[in-house]
Amino acid sequence: MWFRRDKFPPGPYTGLKGWSLRALSQSPLEMFAELARHGDIVGIRVVNFRNIFVNHPGLIEEVLVGHPRRYYKGRVLRANRHVFGEGLLTSEGDFWLRQRRLVQPAFHRARIAAYAETMVEYAQRVMESWRAGEERDVHQEMMRLTLQIVAKTLFNADVTRDASDVGKSLELLLELGADFRRTLFVPHWVPTLTNLRIKREITFIENILYRIINERRASGRDTGDLLSMLLHVQDEDGSRMTDKQLRDETITLFLAGHETTASSLSWAWWLLAQNPAAEAKLHGELDEVLCGRAPSIDDLARLPYTANVITESMRLYPPAWGLARIAVEDHELGGYPVKKGMGVAMAQWVVHRDTRWYDKPEEFRPERWEGDFAKRIPRFAYFPFGGGPRQCIGNSFALMEATLILATIAQRYRLRLVPYHPVVPLASITLRPRYGVRVVLESRQPRGARSPVQSKQAVSAC
Ligand code: HEM
Repeated sequence: MWFRRDKFPPGPYTGLKGWSLRALSQSPLEMFAELARHGDIVGIRVVNFRNIFVNHPGLIEEVLVGHPRRYYKGRVLRANRHVFGEGLLTSEGDFWLRQRRLVQPAFHRARIAAYAETMVEYAQRVMESWRAGEERDVHQEMMRLTLQIVAKTLFNADVTRDASDVGKSLELLLELGADFRRTLFVPHWVPTLTNLRIKREITFIENILYRIINERRASGRDTGDLLSMLLHVQDEDGSRMTDKQLRDETITLFLAGHETTASSLSWAWWLLAQNPAAEAKLHGELDEVLCGRAPSIDDLARLPYTANVITESMRLYPPAWGLARIAVEDHELGGYPVKKGMGVAMAQWVVHRDTRWYDKPEEFRPERWEGDFAKRIPRFAYFPFGGGPRQCIGNSFALMEATLILATIAQRYRLRLVPYHPVVPLASITLRPRYGVRVVLESRQPRGARSPVQSKQAVSAC
């Protein structure tokens, strides 16, 4: 592919072969932040691949909403097809559309509402094993919790026993899958040590998934959950989904549906622990609205600050920190030609910290979302769930889950950071804390909570 040099957007690394690949692999967050200093549309060459980095909400909207059919998922996700298969995240075209329509009902508002109880119940179960004064890695705790919730709500499967091992495998797959140098240049079938390890982890997870699928098939029960829907759906010609298709959709939902929500919560706990005023405001709202009882779906509308804590955490630490596409048709973007085969990258990490949309963007200020702030900024100045037809299918599920978990746990515990434990972002396929978030659990008694010594009068006053 040849382009006239003046038709490729200017960018700092064009021509420096290899340099940008190293930067992309080692410090992608810094690299994208630096790229943005060169403008809203920046040309970048990663080895022989020409890519355009767009940093303006309008241009991002044009790619995701305006012309989604001209783009497929980016190279890294495509290189991970041996993990995700033809699941929702990586499939394309008519096949993707058919699967999306199939899976969508499991995420309808009414359906999701039924998951709320499970989310709260599992959060309470996690706390049963906690003791005040104990030290924990809250990221690991959130990972286990969200994995169990996805398994129970979507597949009616209890993975409590396997949660820790499955979580570690999925985490490893996401981390190794995001190694740009490996995924782009070493095909997954080459028997390198890393590829063999990936294969082992995939087999381990597949065994658990096939166990869940086979048990359900053997029982013949239709429990009305997503797995039953996928098992019973028939094509026009009467054929059903193969085991491989079922495996691809389930592994995708496990992967896409737990680490992202867990990370959004881990970052929220970390930010709250450093911002006592926000933490106090959160506690105040929870105590006033819930009076110490467990939250339910009906409480969500009355917990705006709690929701804003999640929104603001995902602004500063978006679990999906960047999106990538490859043009499958020629297109023009911001006055520059995007030729078939070229990559387009967008980074929530950068746009969410842009001073054009956010005042003091580095500060954690949940209150910035009060009133009509979200309506006053451009649509794609905040896009933690992507946008357009490929927008996250679990968007409402995740927001409800994160808010309910935060509300359940923050009523009973204040999480204090373990001094000197480094909390640093690792930009793998998701953005997670590289060494976890180590905390000391400090119990708290919600104002108005029903305690054995409290009189009935005091409770009703709450
Ligand atoms: C805070 C939590 C979450 C975040 C930040 C998040 C983010 C995203 C983003 C940005 C995309 C679009 C990717 C792209 O356009 O390339 C996406 C897609 C997807 N997400 Fe999520 N997600 C979250 C939670 C969930 C949950 C809970 C589930 C399921 C239980 C889920 C399942 C999916 C699936 C299946 C896709 C692919 C959808 C398609 O292409 O049709 N996600 N997610």
